[in-house]
Amino acid sequence: MSNPASPPAVDVLDERPGLTFPPGFLWGAATAAYQIEGAAAVDGRTPSIWDTFSHTDGRVLLGHTGDVACDHYHRLGDDVALMAELGLKSYRFSVSWSRVQPGGTGAANPQGLDFYRRLVDELLANGIEPWLTLYHWDLPQPLEDAGGWPARDTAARFADYTTLMADALGDRVRYWTTLNEPWCSAFLGYGSGVHAPGRTNGADAVRAGHHLMLGHGLSVQALRAARPTAEVGVTVNLYPVDPASDTPADADAARRIDALANRFFLDPLLRGSYPEDLVADLSTVTDFAHVQDGDLAIISAPLDQVGVNYYSRHVVAAPVEGGEADPAPSCWPGSEDVRFVTRGVPVTDMGWEIDAPGLVETLRRVHDYTDLPLYVTENGSAFVDTVVDGEVDDVERLAFFDAHLRAAHEAIDAGVPLRGYFAWSLMDNFEWAWGYTKRFGMIHVDYDTQVRIPKSSAKWYASVIRRNGLAA
Ligand code: NOJ
Repeated sequence: MSNPASPPAVDVLDERPGLTFPPGFLWGAATAAYQIEGAAAVDGRTPSIWDTFSHTDGRVLLGHTGDVACDHYHRLGDDVALMAELGLKSYRFSVSWSRVQPGGTGAANPQGLDFYRRLVDELLANGIEPWLTLYHWDLPQPLEDAGGWPARDTAARFADYTTLMADALGDRVRYWTTLNEPWCSAFLGYGSGVHAPGRTNGADAVRAGHHLMLGHGLSVQALRAARPTAEVGVTVNLYPVDPASDTPADADAARRIDALANRFFLDPLLRGSYPEDLVADLSTVTDFAHVQDGDLAIISAPLDQVGVNYYSRHVVAAPVEGGEADPAPSCWPGSEDVRFVTRGVPVTDMGWEIDAPGLVETLRRVHDYTDLPLYVTENGSAFVDTVVDGEVDDVERLAFFDAHLRAAHEAIDAGVPLRGYFAWSLMDNFEWAWGYTKRFGMIHVDYDTQVRIPKSSAKWYASVIRRNGLAA
């Protein structure tokens, strides 16, 4: 029962009975280095592919770059204090490879490592479990110049960098993620070219996908060798893919996109093989000669956890009969002419359909592959926010989180070993090709002043963490 003297609405939620998550559920928030750090040329950091890409005319909306971003590099203490106010149990961040190993080969940069040591120590001092992602899309530029992810050697370079990080931080970081969303690195980076490095070649995208996974496997070996007690995993972005109708042609379109979006990664990583139908679909694009004996065993080495990033669902239809294949560069090599259909349901500011039940489907599907503990390593939404009297009342984002956390709970009820959830994102940040025009944060960032304002969703999330669950 509420009474007139009660604290504000978000706290009233705390008084109601509701859904409780399992004890020890890891409540977190996530960010990535290039999206928040800034300090692009400070203390020995050298360019990554995202520095080059964002400084190339026409690549990022409004010419935005990550040069300054949220200036997190210089505001680490204040930002961790905000995390502590939220009550975060864990914080997922990524390391800028070219900050800690400029150029991507050779000796470590002590000043770069020192930043991450300070970050991790500050987190631990505040009782926040650090969760470290080794690769969130920012390949050192010289490695791209040497061939990038389509080149096999990049995987070996990634393993060397992993060893460097494990030696530097393995004593205080327990949770490690090798790659974030390899689909985006491969198919947006080398297929459609809307992400760095902006190349547009389907065969290169497929090769990149393979070498990213090989790099993951070698990185797991490096972590095991350096830190046997580390909890090691990989984060994939997954979508349920539905056919627009029950025609066999639409079903086949859905099968093709599901193969490229989901099974391209899930099958090698968790089953040690590429799906046969995927290899057949890609026969006009590549002969898979880049896959060497032993690669799939390395790629499918046992893990300790799997991270799932979930945002939306794809609904697809067969190509228009007699229509011309779209000649534009595509992130769906071999299936460029499949049509993506909108259903008219509510969308976020990215235009992505809001589909919380899809999270249940996605988690159940991954659980069908493996009994490993699962974590939602990202889930969130962009909406247009306005600051009114120093406050941001982001009711749509709050509702998005609420719906998806209910879905996460439903998955747990269905037997999925889901152990944690990371909201994307802790704060507004550089949304890749969209620059600063899309806001995903629970904390508002004024990019002129760097003032942070926790939005209503942040206050609500703090109450969720406090009660370890949701109001009914
Ligand atoms: C997934 C990516 O990991 C993250 O960097 C990005 O900002 C969000 N999705 C939103 O697009």
